[in-house]
Amino acid sequence: MNVGLIGYGTIGQTLAEAIRSGVAGDVTLVAVMDVFDPSPFDGAPGDPAYSTDIDEFLAQDIELVVEAASQAVLKKFARQVLAGGKNLMAMSVGAFAAVEFLDEMRDLALQHGRRIYLPSGAIGGLDALSAAAIDDIDEVVLTTTKPPGGLQSAGLEQGVDLATIQEPTCVYEGPAIEAVGLFPKNVNVAAALSLAGVGVHKTRVRIVADPAASRNTHRVEARGRFGEFTMELRLLPSPSNPRTSYLAALSAIRTLRNLTEPIRIGG
Ligand SMILES: NC(=O)c1ccc[n+]([C@@H]2O[C@H](COP(=O)([O-])OP(=O)(O)OC[C@H]3O[C@@H](n4cnc5c(N)ncnc54)[C@H](O)[C@@H]3O)[C@@H](O)[C@H]2O)c1
Repeated sequence: MNVGLIGYGTIGQTLAEAIRSGVAGDVTLVAVMDVFDPSPFDGAPGDPAYSTDIDEFLAQDIELVVEAASQAVLKKFARQVLAGGKNLMAMSVGAFAAVEFLDEMRDLALQHGRRIYLPSGAIGGLDALSAAAIDDIDEVVLTTTKPPGGLQSAGLEQGVDLATIQEPTCVYEGPAIEAVGLFPKNVNVAAALSLAGVGVHKTRVRIVADPAASRNTHRVEARGRFGEFTMELRLLPSPSNPRTSYLAALSAIRTLRNLTEPIRIGG
């Protein structure tokens, strides 16, 4: 499968290396688009075509476009990708928290007979949650715990001074739809959980600032007719970027690999 990549940053470079080394399955990276000029590639045999222009990029023989840039970039180019007859894998899952965007993308994909893949990113358990969502789910609660520095100034709006807290402090509790606006760095995980489960209005989000925390922790509690589950991820950052959980890059590789794998586990 021929793949084109928009965004050659932390996730993009990890994915490109995985494709090069064969870890991402039977795929070839034929094109990369980013804003760097000149190209980050030196024209060695097997290097992808590099472009800063979307039309030039999409003119390549690409079956699947992977977006690993930003929500703004995804929103800007997703229509063109789908209308151009290419499948889309999007890492900036937070964009889909906006129901209008989600509906528009679903319609466009249907209209053009294309598929949109949303990797689990920095969260997990979406297989169990989306299976459970076939029947009734009563409650999904995401509790994200981060060092105070990872929560920007948004906590201040909730009356918490992040610079002076001494112990784990809940700085926000509310529906995912509100949380994604207040904590943009948390948006992907909250959106992915909402999409897999009960939506952005019913999914509850708690954000905890913990001065003793050295990792980002996501705890998911779900309850419904299936029973209940609790899952906790204590994540390490990517080697090259402390802001991106390494698991997010690995999930991009896994999603890609699943597309050419004869047997898939979990979904
Ligand atoms: N789903 C998840 O759980 C999850 C986890 C981590 C990151 N993400 C998201 O994945 C995306 C990529 O994350 P990252 O850590 O690799 O980011 P990054 O900042 O390391 O890389 C982003 C790349 O996109 C490029 N870019 C910016 N504008 C562009 C444009 N107009 N056209 C093409 N390229 C452009 C940048 O130059 C950069 O190379 C972000 O939106 C991030 O929020 C999702």
